[in-house]
Amino acid sequence: MKERLQKLISRSGLMSRRRAEEKIRQGLVRVDGRVAQLGESADPAQAEIRVDGDLLRFATATLTLMLNKPTGYICSMDDPNGRRLVIDLLPAELGRLYPVGRLDYNTEGLLLLTNDGALAQHLTHPSHHVSKTYLVKVRGLLNDQGRKKMESGIKLEDGVTAPARVSAVRRSGQNCWFELTLREGRNRQVRRMCEAVGLPVVRLKRIALGGLRLEDLKSGTYRALDDDELADLKKKAGL
Ligand code: URA
Repeated sequence: MKERLQKLISRSGLMSRRRAEEKIRQGLVRVDGRVAQLGESADPAQAEIRVDGDLLRFATATLTLMLNKPTGYICSMDDPNGRRLVIDLLPAELGRLYPVGRLDYNTEGLLLLTNDGALAQHLTHPSHHVSKTYLVKVRGLLNDQGRKKMESGIKLEDGVTAPARVSAVRRSGQNCWFELTLREGRNRQVRRMCEAVGLPVVRLKRIALGGLRLEDLKSGTYRALDDDELADLKKKAGL
């Protein structure tokens, strides 16, 4: 995939984007032997890019990390409306990482990002049923009837939901908190399930995915998964 040269150079870890722009202006960057111009893009998989004569290299190792996504960020790689992107919370040196699945703009919590295409594909494939647990705050109280509906399946416009698990229900004034564990990942599923039982969601946070838990990872920060976590995740994803 083509990317602006200055972005590619900073992503390789060689230098900052600003410094890379200077190098391009100074005529010190070459693409396939030709002096590059500022504003030019190249595909690092196809082109030979040299800075000061040195060949640009990219780490080939795979990397998977968990981010505690704050609200007010989207999970796309770009946004025509200029909203903030989760990938902008990561330093350029980590290279291009892709969000695994999506959390809504107003949802916070555990989001995986990876450059391991096979893992991302398996984790998001509906047949693998990796569980996801959400901490949900709703306006109103979740009664037995609502709870049973969520646990047995709710008819939404795209079909009946698979049985979910509801736990840790507690009341807080006119609101209610609970944990909801799903084994599927449809668009805005938690919000739609809650709306279907008359409870608008006021806060939504994903706190677990597979065997991974967010624990005390601070909002807006990330950490790489360790080898055991990765092995367990791959197993659960059917890899
Ligand atoms: N369900 C939702 O409604 N929103 C999310 O972001 C994730 C699950």
